[in-house]
Amino acid sequence: MTTTAAQPGTWTGTWLEAAREIGLEPGGPVNIGWHCSDRICRMGLGAKRALLWEDAEGRSRTLTFDDLRLLTNTFAAFVRGLGVGPGERVCLFLDRVPELYIGFLGILKTGAVAQPLFSAFGEDSLHVRLQDAETAAIVTQRKHLGKVRRIREKLPHLRRIVVVDGAGAPGPGEVHLDLFGAAPVQEFAVHPTTADSPSVLHYTSGTTGQPKGAQHVHGSLPAQYLTSKRVLDLRPEDVYWCNADPGWVTGTSYGIIGPWVNGATQAVLDSGFNTDRWYDFVAKHRITVWYSAPTAIRLLMREGGEAARRRDLSCLRHLCSVGEPLNAEAVVWSERIFGRPFLDTYWQTETGCIVITNLPGMKVKPGSMGKAFPGIEATVLDMNSLRPLDRPGAVGLIALRPGWPSLIRTYRNKPDAYASKFRNGWYLTGDRSSIDEDGYFWFVGRDDDVINTGGHLVGPFEIESALLEHPAVAESAAVSKPDPVNMEVVKVFVTLKPGYEPSDDLELEIMNRIRRKLSPLAMPQEIQFVDSLPKTRSGKIMRRVLRAKEWNEPVGDLSSLMND
Ligand code: WTA
Repeated sequence: MTTTAAQPGTWTGTWLEAAREIGLEPGGPVNIGWHCSDRICRMGLGAKRALLWEDAEGRSRTLTFDDLRLLTNTFAAFVRGLGVGPGERVCLFLDRVPELYIGFLGILKTGAVAQPLFSAFGEDSLHVRLQDAETAAIVTQRKHLGKVRRIREKLPHLRRIVVVDGAGAPGPGEVHLDLFGAAPVQEFAVHPTTADSPSVLHYTSGTTGQPKGAQHVHGSLPAQYLTSKRVLDLRPEDVYWCNADPGWVTGTSYGIIGPWVNGATQAVLDSGFNTDRWYDFVAKHRITVWYSAPTAIRLLMREGGEAARRRDLSCLRHLCSVGEPLNAEAVVWSERIFGRPFLDTYWQTETGCIVITNLPGMKVKPGSMGKAFPGIEATVLDMNSLRPLDRPGAVGLIALRPGWPSLIRTYRNKPDAYASKFRNGWYLTGDRSSIDEDGYFWFVGRDDDVINTGGHLVGPFEIESALLEHPAVAESAAVSKPDPVNMEVVKVFVTLKPGYEPSDDLELEIMNRIRRKLSPLAMPQEIQFVDSLPKTRSGKIMRRVLRAKEWNEPVGDLSSLMND
């Protein structure tokens, strides 16, 4: 009964039309790196601005599509020169510097797989992902080099460490790349990738086990092209800003591929959240289209509308949001402050593109994610029978009919986990929702234990594994607890080994350890020391019991709970 993804590499219907719009034919070559740079130049847009880059210190750089073409060629030639072959993984472990965006396309031009990772990851998070991907090379900056060096010995596949701002003599196995100082490579023989060739590898968290490597393919391109054009409504004169980091899928599908395959000008701000800086950035670059996330919007809301009113933000024409539930208040607030609502969009690492959305011009129902994108067949399935529920308002599992181009092709090393996502001819998202009589989806929640904090998924297993390395920790359970800004934050329940006592110092030490080893996002906001954890008769920790208490929700069926 299990079905796998649709016929690989075939574009049909809407997607075939979109493919043809960008010069693609089924069975022919397709390379995301080439399509986002060289092809735009061939359309006569070489002199158009591709990237307006700025960082928190006020450094800036502007690149045209022709610059992008040459720099991605140069990067690609460098990667090929390192001996990295097609299909091998090259990790981008960088802040949002221009080399990240250029490197991404350059790696794809060589046929290698781009594996972007959030530069705030600590060594444990980095190690797990590089080990699973058997990554051949990593591109980083001096400021992150220490983390890479510390885990190097444990990564036999890692042959090269590329430092983009290197100074002095490179360390063993390291090599410096001065991309902007290097002689530009005019012609690069782009690897003849096809629709089924692997392109981007994003790690995403699940309930069990370490994060899974979601493998995307070059054939995803018509999906990112069409959804960027239709949902983000990108037009030739737009200046677009996606404030997501390319360590996450939003930052690649809509922070690199989507805008550039449309020949759009995009602005990048290499800086964390700061209301004034963000508004100044919008005003300075006359941003017209902004793709953001609910947590950022809630942060802006918390600061009030005053900061927005002090500037001329009338340039903003179209606003979209993704990553977590967009509360109705945020939609209404943005309408009041920016004169237009943030439009909610829904998708996942696995889907590669927006699948449920509010399209421009569509009636907005605040609190709803919108409707299935034309070309996507979406429904909700009964939790038990996994058959579509046709009763408006009934809550079920969001399911999508496989066949759109950007659905991932596998989870690396975990084909069974991938196969388990397909049932009765549907791809199961693992999210719950209802659909109203007008076809609008109303998000209810995730159907697993993954914590969505500020739009970023954090797997409880990863946190619990890191905690087990702490000498005082006997057992632990990581769950979400409600938070007014981040929607959810991490809370950890810990039982201690004999001889250890709960204390504020211990709490702080555990928190910091997670922040350092995993990432600031995974850091628990609260640690509760307990004598025991609720478990099933087979000894499995029941996170949902702990979670339900945090959310004041009914605990549900406890028949499998062990009585202790
Ligand atoms: C959640 C991010 C509510 C959902 C592109 C999904 C959302 C997970 C929304 C994917 C939304 C994403 N409303 N929840 N508009 N968009 N989610 O893989 O649980 O990092 O499954 O991809 O985020 O997160 P991921």
